[in-house]
Amino acid sequence: MATRKRPGDSWYGVVLAAGKGVRMKSARPKVLHTVCGVPMLAHATAALRSAGVSKVVVVVSPGAENDRALQEAAGEGARLAVQQSQLGTANALLAAREAVAGAVSLVICYGDVPLIRPETLKDLMSAHAKQRSTVTILTARVANPTGFGRMVRSSDGAVTAIVEEKDADERVRAITEINSGCYAFDASWIWSVLPDIPRSRTGEHLLTDVVAAAIGAGRKVVTVEAADAAEVSGVNDRVQLAEAERLMRRRILTALMLDGVSITDPATTYVDAGVSVGADTTLWPNTHLRGKTAIGGRCQIGPNSILDGARVGDDSAIVASHVESSVIGSRVHVGPFSRLRPGTTIADDVFVGNYAEIKNSTIGSGTHIGHFSYTGDATLGARVNIGAGTITCNFDGEAKHATVIEDDVLIGSDTMLVAPIRIGARARTGAGAVATRDVPPGVTVVGVPARPLPASSKRHREASRPAP
Ligand code: UD1
Ligand code: CA
Repeated sequence: MATRKRPGDSWYGVVLAAGKGVRMKSARPKVLHTVCGVPMLAHATAALRSAGVSKVVVVVSPGAENDRALQEAAGEGARLAVQQSQLGTANALLAAREAVAGAVSLVICYGDVPLIRPETLKDLMSAHAKQRSTVTILTARVANPTGFGRMVRSSDGAVTAIVEEKDADERVRAITEINSGCYAFDASWIWSVLPDIPRSRTGEHLLTDVVAAAIGAGRKVVTVEAADAAEVSGVNDRVQLAEAERLMRRRILTALMLDGVSITDPATTYVDAGVSVGADTTLWPNTHLRGKTAIGGRCQIGPNSILDGARVGDDSAIVASHVESSVIGSRVHVGPFSRLRPGTTIADDVFVGNYAEIKNSTIGSGTHIGHFSYTGDATLGARVNIGAGTITCNFDGEAKHATVIEDDVLIGSDTMLVAPIRIGARARTGAGAVATRDVPPGVTVVGVPARPLPASSKRHREASRPAP
């Protein structure tokens, strides 16, 4: 029984990413350099997937097939094909041949074109299909074509070749229509000609030379012009990397603003690709949202906040603080000048003031940690009040120990909690107490080392009363 083909079924996407990237002057593969927090390669493969290809193949250099970062950037289900030696872009595509066996049409892009949008690739693919062409090239008109391959056309406007900058004379260099490096190919035809693409003057087999080959064979070559030339800016060096970052950042901020996020100064707001922010949240200047950060609605973030891998609920404020791999609830206030380190979970309605450091801890709802303090490896219940200068002494020089503070506890200013330790519900510590042993529920301890106040003490009786 014949299975019905879905759109995209016969389209396979190939990303060429085996180049040495010498112009980056980097020990890291060029395509792993990030643009708005995401490797360039991941931007390209994501665009191909969103454009509807059924399979993605990434051509990499030998050894890179075992590189986990590269594998991750290629994305789920992507196959890596190895180009044995870097003999040019035509040779690179040939390395993908086996991995894309069965494809009817191929859409190709280079791993150093992070700004390419799925819509543009879709336009390329549909022009290719509709016009039944053999080679379809995405081009762009740019003010400064330096470094790009130029689209050479005959007097009647038909494309005759792509000429690389190195091979171009003055007349060709003056052409401002450039090759983007994204193409759609008839798969069976491209495999028939690729092995025979001759070496160029620089000794490489250039994919751009398939254009002249197609025309020579009387095949149809079509061009599609990108509406926005910025999309096809290739990144060869770190100056272009910074430029791509600027363009991508602006694109991300624009999308957020159109979705209802206020950004008071886009020039000093930095949001990674893949971050989400809810409507009516305001991002104040010098705010950085990195990694897999997700922020709810009606929050105030910044000024001067850095959130990396943070999840924040609704109606929370994070002012001039640093948050890393932490979960923060709704109606929480943090800052200014606090630091939430990895593994911190903060429930709703918590107040974290200034100079608080919290690491690998869970903070219950309604708890206040108002002033300078260190909370590490701790579990705090609801409505706890942590006095200024409180420290969980979690490290004894060899191992880390846990602190548990139950509901409605009041920790007096400058208390040292020597872990492991448990402070029972409604207990209290006096100012300057050094608590070295568990404190039972309702008991007040004072002094160094901390001891229970005599039962007759007025303060103790007050503390022992159930919380309102
Ligand atoms: C290429 C195009 C040029 C186009 C420009 C758009 C060619 C010959 N030239 O030039 O027409 O205007 O991109 O940005 O294609 N690669 C391999 N194996 C190799 C060589 C390269 O996988 O042996 C990969 C690189 O990793 C890179 C891509 O192919 O991702 C393009 O190579 P690059 O050297 O950056 O080409 P450009 O000089 O930018
Ligand atoms: Ca390039």
